[in-house]
Amino acid sequence: MKKTLIVTTLLLIQFSVFSKVPDEGIWIPLLIEKYNIKLMQEKGFRLSAEDIYSVNRACMKDAVVNFDGGCTAEIISGEGLLITNHHCGYDQIQQHSSLEHDYLTNGFWAMSKQEELPNPGVTVSILKWMEDVTEQVLSGITEDMDQRKREELIASRILDIQKKAAEGTGLRASVRPFFMGNQYFLFVSEIFRDVRLVGAPPSAIGKFGGDTDNWIWPRHTGDFSMFRIYAGPDNKPADYSTENVPYKPAYYFPISIKGVSEGDFTMVFGYPGSTSEYVPSYHVDMVKNYLDPKLIAIRTKKIEIIDEAMNSDPLIRIQYSAKKAGISNSWKKWIGEIQGLERMNTIARKQEFEKRLSAWIESDEGRKARFGDILAGYRDLYPRLREYTVVNSFTNEVVYGIEAVSIARSLRTLSGLYEKNTENEAVIKEKSRLIESSDGFFKDYNKETDIKLFAALMKMYGEILDQKWQAPEYLRLKSSCKGSFDKLAAKLYKQTLFADKSKYNAFVKNFNKSSVTRLSRDPLYLLSGDFNKFLSQKVLPELAVMNSDLQRLNRRYMKAQMEFDTSRVFYPDANSTLRIAFGKVKGYFPKDAVYFEPVSTLDGIIEKDNPEIYDYNVPQKLRELYLRKDFGRYGQNGKMPVCFIADNHTTGGNSGSPVINADGFLVGINFDRAWEGVASDMAFNPEQSRNISLDIRYALFIIDKFAGAGYLLKEMTIIE
Ligand code: ARG
Ligand code: GLU
Repeated sequence: MKKTLIVTTLLLIQFSVFSKVPDEGIWIPLLIEKYNIKLMQEKGFRLSAEDIYSVNRACMKDAVVNFDGGCTAEIISGEGLLITNHHCGYDQIQQHSSLEHDYLTNGFWAMSKQEELPNPGVTVSILKWMEDVTEQVLSGITEDMDQRKREELIASRILDIQKKAAEGTGLRASVRPFFMGNQYFLFVSEIFRDVRLVGAPPSAIGKFGGDTDNWIWPRHTGDFSMFRIYAGPDNKPADYSTENVPYKPAYYFPISIKGVSEGDFTMVFGYPGSTSEYVPSYHVDMVKNYLDPKLIAIRTKKIEIIDEAMNSDPLIRIQYSAKKAGISNSWKKWIGEIQGLERMNTIARKQEFEKRLSAWIESDEGRKARFGDILAGYRDLYPRLREYTVVNSFTNEVVYGIEAVSIARSLRTLSGLYEKNTENEAVIKEKSRLIESSDGFFKDYNKETDIKLFAALMKMYGEILDQKWQAPEYLRLKSSCKGSFDKLAAKLYKQTLFADKSKYNAFVKNFNKSSVTRLSRDPLYLLSGDFNKFLSQKVLPELAVMNSDLQRLNRRYMKAQMEFDTSRVFYPDANSTLRIAFGKVKGYFPKDAVYFEPVSTLDGIIEKDNPEIYDYNVPQKLRELYLRKDFGRYGQNGKMPVCFIADNHTTGGNSGSPVINADGFLVGINFDRAWEGVASDMAFNPEQSRNISLDIRYALFIIDKFAGAGYLLKEMTIIE
């Protein structure tokens, strides 16, 4: 006990002298008190760990929500009002849009609660509490246990813990591994199912700069949209109903319009998705030199085709805008990631680290016995793992990239049901599900574009993957058309059931025993089935075994790293659980002699203004507000701040996260990272890794001055 005390004191002293360690990190709310609060306060934070996370009283965590699985949002009023990114609400805004009601182009503002738009299927989850359950999950489990047995045992214990925690509460419990399975935490959350769209600026504001500026600083995107959580009269989650009432949260964020300047403390509280900070050099090599380049190549082609279609027709622009944003977002990030890893020499650095670690392992018999096989294990595993991973990811990228092939896949369940039975309840249900979901699909479907995608992707699949990894049906088609995929595409899309809504619906509605045969002759259904079979027979089983071996190596490699450097406090990789990052508002040097200031303003929007370029076409009303300098209380020194950067460690999923100042007030909404630092998922670089946030004042200015929806501000708490 005494010894650990001394060690901890020493560690603390070391931190405050060098404070080198926590220049990065996505930390666990429950452990802020233990590991971070001191440094946070040194950086300027004026509140306590209990103000961030507590189970005894209302605190910030009650106002941070996971928005529909992929993003974060925060509650900013006592009536369940949520703010998140425009790109997080994009699917919903897009789905409510048509040529008549083009909310993407014109924005949307509910002028009363009655006008708020429901979004079936969208959920919001709020963490009630979390707990370290490592003991329960791992007790009695030893390293020499067979890996599969171990996995089974852990999985069944996790199910038990989840069941016990949630039983009869209406809450959702989930146990997640941390530090590659060295630690486990339980999360218990409340899931709300009635979430309505309240407001969104036009894309010319909410997506200003589009894909051109995406991942780039300086940035001028007004990336926000607003929703509202509704609950039953008992304030508990309920399915959508007109009887539902606005949710009354335990806590909501006051909003400060005092602004930020360089050096100010900020903290980002949200749901980062996934990072890989502790992987070996082999992994970085796989991603940077094998996986990313192939995925980039195929998406470059997709984007080229979709861009051309979108530019040719306003309807196609609406139909494909959300899909295109998704495709190009990761595409661009991968490009930046490769450049960043190259510039930072990440592979060589990791190799050097591995050498030092090896020497340390080799210098002690006990360590040798526990860790001696790890690096050799990686060296043996990765060449095969790499091959299978590339085949799997690349094939999915192709198959899901062709829309008619991917919707063809969705008939497999129905067909399967028929092979066993005839008409029964399951069949009827599946039919109506298919017809319902096809509405959304065909609303945003353009056949000509899909035909082009088919021809191009099929061609690339054959060129990029080694022949032994090409599915048999593909090879047959390829030889039948002698490689002329354009002609093949035109022919197949005439025969298929999956490229026309009426054909599709009629087929599904009247589906009977003989349809099974008809279906099995559909060329796209055949193709999708064959891809599927090929992967599930030739790729996935091996991949599963390799991934399980990998997990075992990773878990022990993580442990070895932690024992090797006991002076360092480790943070766990992101895993879609609630986390905290903190740092300061800070500019950076993107290259020699160039310094990027940390705050952007409306001036920059006007500089970029160009009606000829879709991404830079500034709305007339915004130009006028600028000319009149009509910024109200939101401007500062005659300028209207728009975005700012800070050195908070964030990743995908942190979009929409509240950016909180030293007093716990909302000052921004996180939405992106800056180009030179996007490799931070594998290597955070304090010199250049920056998160990009929307200045909350710009959001309020747009709501109030631009949209005339200032009534929404009445329910917020504004700190002037
Ligand atoms: N790069 C940000 C993120 O990873 C924003 C993406 C949305 N914007 C866009 N232009 N596609 O999600
Ligand atoms: N835009 C990202 C998201 O959707 C956040 C940016 C990042 O990856 O850091 O979560």
